[in-house]
Amino acid sequence: MHISDNIKYIGVNDRRIDLFEGQYIVPNGMAYNSYVIIDRKIAVMDTVDRNFSHEWLDNLQKVLGGRQPDYLVVSHMEPDHSANIAAFMKLYTDAIVVASAKAFPMMQNFFGTDFADRRIAVGEGDTLSLGEHVLNFHTAPMVHWPEVVMSYESTEKVLFSADAFGKFGATDADEDWACEARRYYFGIVGKYGAQVQGILKKLGGADIRTICPLHGPVLTENLGYYLNLYSIWSTYGVETDGVFIAYTSVYGNTKKAVELLADKLREKGCPKVSVTDLARDDMAEAVEDAFRYGKLVLATTTYNADIFPFMRTFIDHLTERNFQNRTVALIENGSWAPQAAKVMREMLSGCKNLKFTDNTVHIRSALGDESKQQLDALCDELCIDYVARRSETANKNDLKALFNIGYGLYVVTSNDGTRDNGLIVNTVTQVTNTPNRVAVTINKDNYSHHIIKQTGIMNVNCLSVDAPFSVFENYGFRSGRNADKFEGIAEMRSDNGLRFLPQYINSFMSLKVEQYIDMGTHGMFVCSVNEARVISKLETMTYTYYQNNVKPKPQTEGKKGFVCKVCGYVYEGEELPEDFVCPLCKHGAADFEPVQ
Ligand code: FEO
Repeated sequence: MHISDNIKYIGVNDRRIDLFEGQYIVPNGMAYNSYVIIDRKIAVMDTVDRNFSHEWLDNLQKVLGGRQPDYLVVSHMEPDHSANIAAFMKLYTDAIVVASAKAFPMMQNFFGTDFADRRIAVGEGDTLSLGEHVLNFHTAPMVHWPEVVMSYESTEKVLFSADAFGKFGATDADEDWACEARRYYFGIVGKYGAQVQGILKKLGGADIRTICPLHGPVLTENLGYYLNLYSIWSTYGVETDGVFIAYTSVYGNTKKAVELLADKLREKGCPKVSVTDLARDDMAEAVEDAFRYGKLVLATTTYNADIFPFMRTFIDHLTERNFQNRTVALIENGSWAPQAAKVMREMLSGCKNLKFTDNTVHIRSALGDESKQQLDALCDELCIDYVARRSETANKNDLKALFNIGYGLYVVTSNDGTRDNGLIVNTVTQVTNTPNRVAVTINKDNYSHHIIKQTGIMNVNCLSVDAPFSVFENYGFRSGRNADKFEGIAEMRSDNGLRFLPQYINSFMSLKVEQYIDMGTHGMFVCSVNEARVISKLETMTYTYYQNNVKPKPQTEGKKGFVCKVCGYVYEGEELPEDFVCPLCKHGAADFEPVQ
């Protein structure tokens, strides 16, 4: 393998190995890479596995051209690379071993000597000059052992990356880089994403033209592709859109459900569906796929009041590698006391940023009508984004999209000349900043609209996240025409004479109307800002926060009909009249949804 006139490859291919690191199948063998930099001084970069001592020493001798090596740079002490350190040092008696301080106690343990009188310890930022070539060292702890140090040769711009950017397979294997590099990455360093991010950051400014890893091919072209994949993998990002289904099946019924789901997903337009039988297929490949795709379906049986052993092992592999940032769906099978879904969910409970689907499939022994319906619902849920992204399948008139516009919640206060009034709105927007102008839109049916139209002034109180439901009941669910919304509330007034709330707000602004825009059902007041105060550092209450944390759960149990999304009022009946107005909060039929 040619690298350059002065950097030579002296690694070996291992085609006899059955299991790499004692557990990973490597059908296309394994490469143990080693390199030599030839300059005024000669540096050998790592050794190889113990089964290839003579082949490696022969390769070395060929490129030395009769000269003696000056340095042996040890980037990693795992025996697939370090096994021949002692043999090398014995053969080349003037050579010095260069490694991180953490590597030398490991040498003592492996070889009975730490080469105390023939060594240089290097750390972050240290350099070693060979003449024209200069090695710049970067520590890379836990990529993949604590002592790892990478070297960047700044003249030819070569990164000696230790295990990083390596893969399973001999260098002459004709296979895709990403597939075996991903299986290698997640199997071996998947747990250490933060540390991989650390070293990528350290190398971020370096102009890298060649990557020389300790396994797999030397990378010379399109390096952005490899660096980008490492960035995705180390941040646990989604590499490929699609669903990965991992299952175990004892008598084939769970398998049947999985196959049906896979077919349905494909029919629905899921861009990629990958399925694995955890009892029969390669576990490391399954782990790799779980980290590759955005959505994971786990299907298994209840077994000994737990889950089937291969599924337990698989989930353990995921959790010990910091599985995160994924959507997870569960399919359980059980003939008398099913609890696989509960066990799987508990096993994943410590993972960061997992979103479990609303739909879980419960199979009692074999697929039935109910579990088939659950599969359909799960398929719909898993495909919602795929369906919506494709022009041919998307619902292009889904007005629920409007509910996803982000809103804050505000109490607008005003005074009709005799009484203070307050109203909850979510339609406050700053529209310009030179000068500052704020637009407030209010339904014409509200008494506040009438008052502000007359007086031309208002205060906007920004509700903070500590505001209880009673604030919304008081200002939002009744009219100021016939209720005193400030009864019993401590009196606080701004310079314009209007009330501001003594509690539950983080700011208020006193506004003066400059322009009124008639919008049919609503009127928009475009206002200048006359006074503005910040009251607390609490965050602003958003509509989403209100829905999730403040609004009481509606009492829908046993009821059929429609529930108001604003206040939780339940309308019981088969059909909701189009002109229905919520008797509690006065919102219209558009704010109702069917009781689930
Ligand atoms: Fe290739 Fe971590 O040894």
